[in-house]
Amino acid sequence: MANRFTSDLTWADVTPENVFMNRRAFMAGTAAMAVGGIGGSAAAATSPYSTDEEPNKWEEITQYNNFYEFGTGKGDPAAYAEALTTSPWAVEIDGMVEKPGTYSFEDIMSQMTVEERIYRFRCVEAWSMVIPWNGFELADLLNLAGVQDGAKYVGFETLMRPEEMWGQKRQFIPWPYREGLRLDEAMHPLSFIATGIYGKDIPNQNGAPLRLVVPWKYGFKSIKSIVRITLTDEQPVASWNQINPREYGFYSNVNPNVDHPRWSQASERRVGGGILAKRIPTLMFNGYEEEVASLYEGMDLAKEF
Ligand code: MTE
Repeated sequence: MANRFTSDLTWADVTPENVFMNRRAFMAGTAAMAVGGIGGSAAAATSPYSTDEEPNKWEEITQYNNFYEFGTGKGDPAAYAEALTTSPWAVEIDGMVEKPGTYSFEDIMSQMTVEERIYRFRCVEAWSMVIPWNGFELADLLNLAGVQDGAKYVGFETLMRPEEMWGQKRQFIPWPYREGLRLDEAMHPLSFIATGIYGKDIPNQNGAPLRLVVPWKYGFKSIKSIVRITLTDEQPVASWNQINPREYGFYSNVNPNVDHPRWSQASERRVGGGILAKRIPTLMFNGYEEEVASLYEGMDLAKEF
């Protein structure tokens, strides 16, 4: 059956399950000999942007979430996000684009090629995961609408629907949740729109039917359940930056050398490691330094954080 959230391509098509499982075994250091060479062929089956690290379990990825529209507890999104109606769904693409309009989710998916990206994901709260997303590059979506010369930023908005998102009945955040990127960040091939996880439809608590994933930035930049994308020449509002600019910069690039005013960002706790697991060092740009450092050349990253 066609999978609404991942187009007709499922995870199994993108990465055959046996290859994925062998790769996991390879990475775990077991059966590496028995499957000789599979590491190479498996690498060819996934994106060069994917990490070789062991992905988190489905249960971890889908039961430990931040989605304040459904409450502030880590288990709240899994408990309450089922209430969200995700079909029909459409994304308004407006501002400085050639073809502004309302793009239905089906229309978008029919024009995108879905692939798998296994990315590290680092929350500003200093926990992290490794998540096998399915989706497409944000640049492909922006190119669908055609970006006009002079556009410098991209703004994003989450759905506003308090009757289904009970957290929106409290003014905890000035709803709707908003985020933004500079255009060159948005056009970077790592910037991804996720529509699936482990080849399954992305669950509501993870931002169905489509959410942003910017792996070199703190997780709050990766806005969920997007209904509006606006191209502008002015820096757009970003919710956490709006609430507390001293603690949450517009860029919010993962940076172990710039601490949050209330805690260190030098290390992180990998979810699923257990309470006795050692914290691991946080990497510059969350390990994507080679790919993205050039975007910030000449900037003082301690000031423009
Ligand atoms: N998007 C919306 N609309 N609302 C939110 O509360 N939380 C952000 C981000 N996107 C959030 C959001 C934060 S703080 C994080 S860490 C990630 O989503 C969490 O993504 P995950 O639950 O899929 O791991």
